[in-house]
Amino acid sequence: MAVATAKKPANGKPGAKHNIDAARQDYYQRIAKHDMKPLWTVLDSLVSDEPVSRGVPVIWHYDDVKSLVMESGGLITAEEAKRRVLILENPGMRGESRVTGSLFAGIQMIMPGEVAPAHRHSASAIRFVLDGEGAYTAVEGEKAVMSPGDFVITANWAAHDHGNTSKKPMLWLDVLDVPAINFFETSFAEDYGSPTQQTTRRDGDSLSFYGSGVLPDGAVVHNRTPVINYTYARTRPIVERMMAAGEIDRRHGARVRYANPVTGGPVLPTMGAYLAMLPKGFRGEPYRSTDGTIFVCAEGEGTTTVDGEVLAWGPRDVFVVPAWKRHTHRATKQSVLFSISDRPAQEALGIWREER
Ligand SMILES: [Fe+2]
Repeated sequence: MAVATAKKPANGKPGAKHNIDAARQDYYQRIAKHDMKPLWTVLDSLVSDEPVSRGVPVIWHYDDVKSLVMESGGLITAEEAKRRVLILENPGMRGESRVTGSLFAGIQMIMPGEVAPAHRHSASAIRFVLDGEGAYTAVEGEKAVMSPGDFVITANWAAHDHGNTSKKPMLWLDVLDVPAINFFETSFAEDYGSPTQQTTRRDGDSLSFYGSGVLPDGAVVHNRTPVINYTYARTRPIVERMMAAGEIDRRHGARVRYANPVTGGPVLPTMGAYLAMLPKGFRGEPYRSTDGTIFVCAEGEGTTTVDGEVLAWGPRDVFVVPAWKRHTHRATKQSVLFSISDRPAQEALGIWREER
């Protein structure tokens, strides 16, 4: 049996190391009573050499999601729930209602005849429509009738309600900047006072007024888009045209950024979104950036490999690439990917980075 023998400390004083460790522990305990802590014990985790995301790559397949969300229709009404949403929880951040470090995501369903009552809050929201036809989101008096692939914006403090006058359930992906708003401890919310808003503008007025190469005379510039609904019917042909013109990014495909048409900036100060068409057989080059990103497959079929993990996606599947994870897209069929992240917020703070 080997016998362990204590090495003589380099300074030649037996027990010196033990003494300094004990002295340090004693010191740490004493300063803790004054609500202080030594930086040198936490510095490496506090200021990492590279971004460290607690989020993990994850995919929700629509077939699973739809049946589970449909089940909730028999358990609670939209009015009772306020919003009938199943949170998409990143397994790396259980219990925190986050899908990336800064964003919340959920699947919302409105059954025929239901209303999700009007309210407003500091958090901004986007909806990306997955299923159904003809339910609406009303935002500050404009009622947008939604179709699959539509991208609907509810900016910070804009009153909004949802309703379904169609005969089919409608499901969409909700993404909100709630974790970011709560990081800043700036959350306010209030009910509108009545379940629905007075409609003061026709469906499509905001897109027509602001998104058509003209602007209402005297239009005021805000850091959020005045457009309520970026319809799929209007955006899809644009990426198709880009692809036909050969404007295909080697990492992202033929991709457009949803823009505030007044400023050219992002649609919201905290969240930005893209729509990309990938040609059949597309094999993307590796890419990573500091904005953890939520993708939705609007059409097609393919895979996204994230740090060696393969996420195989098809129509209406939702998947997440965490911050600074190297990933590559491949498309086995011509595909359309919608994506959303907190990139505008990072860019405004001057901390966004990418590696091509
Ligand atoms: Fe809301």
